[in-house]
Amino acid sequence: MKEQLSKIRTEALAAFSSAQTAAELDALRVQYLGKKGELTAVLKQMGRLSAEERPVMGQMANEVRTVLEQALEKTGARLEEAALEERLKAETVDVTVPGKAQKIGRKHPMYIALDEIKDIFVGMGFTVLDGPEIELATYNFDKLNAEEGHPSRDWSDTFYFDKDSRVMLRSQTSPMQVRAMETMELPIRIIAPGRVYRKDEVDATHSPMFHQVEGMVIDKGVTMADLKGTLNTVIEKLYGEGTVTRFRPHHFPFTEPSCEMDIQCHKCGGRGCPTCKGEGWIEVLGAGMIHPNVLRMSGIDPEEYSGWAFGMGLERMAMGRFKIADLRLIFENDVRFLEQF
Ligand code: DAH
Repeated sequence: MKEQLSKIRTEALAAFSSAQTAAELDALRVQYLGKKGELTAVLKQMGRLSAEERPVMGQMANEVRTVLEQALEKTGARLEEAALEERLKAETVDVTVPGKAQKIGRKHPMYIALDEIKDIFVGMGFTVLDGPEIELATYNFDKLNAEEGHPSRDWSDTFYFDKDSRVMLRSQTSPMQVRAMETMELPIRIIAPGRVYRKDEVDATHSPMFHQVEGMVIDKGVTMADLKGTLNTVIEKLYGEGTVTRFRPHHFPFTEPSCEMDIQCHKCGGRGCPTCKGEGWIEVLGAGMIHPNVLRMSGIDPEEYSGWAFGMGLERMAMGRFKIADLRLIFENDVRFLEQF
């Protein structure tokens, strides 16, 4: 039995070291150490030994097993390393092959225009605010002096969430005026860009979702001259020096007096063309002096403070800035269009 064990040991070690692949080595492991392997077969004969011989043989068998297991492990590691080496040799990378160019995205034209607008206002000391698109009618209408029954509150114009018309998708960014008045210290200088929603059909100038930039200044002694001066400065910075604007009287519930501002058509220079629908002018924003009721409802004394506000259509500003003829191009996200900016 002793001879059998040492024969297995010698043979197995020789076989292991001549194995060429991991699969070959595994087959040898089964052959020598497996359940039906040669070593196990020898151990099964232990029963025939005397009580003195048994532990001696047992110990020897264990030693052989340990030696073989260690040899297996070593050889296995060596084969694995060799296989890796082979693979690396076979898979050499040709670093001179041209790479795949990644297409890099770019800023959307409307956000380019918005960033320019923000920069101009921040440069004049304004803070940029962000606010909720799901808004309370309290902020969107009541505290802006648009009472129950005002036409803008109609179900046919506004996306309400509830039967009582108290929760809605904001139809304008003007509620940010109220939110600013309620939370900020005076004097206030803010702009608040964001999405607004109205039940409009999609066409070349309308979309049920569009963007506005709200602006508001409240301080002591603020006048309509400040409003005109500020907005003219902004327009010249955006559209170039000498851009002609005009202010027309208008009505908004939250301003008194109210106006709309037009810029002279960039396409025809005021003569009248399809872009300005023959008018020579393009309306870009509504504005006015904040109504005393609005100031009072948000806890500001209109005898002490005055202010002005405006709300501009961001798509319209971008269309003018980049001479885009159709609003739908702004939302379709066709890369052939977007790549031009
Ligand atoms: N919220 C108005 C609209 O959506 C625009 C507007 C007009 C905003 C006058 C103002 C303002 O802040 O003073 O049509």
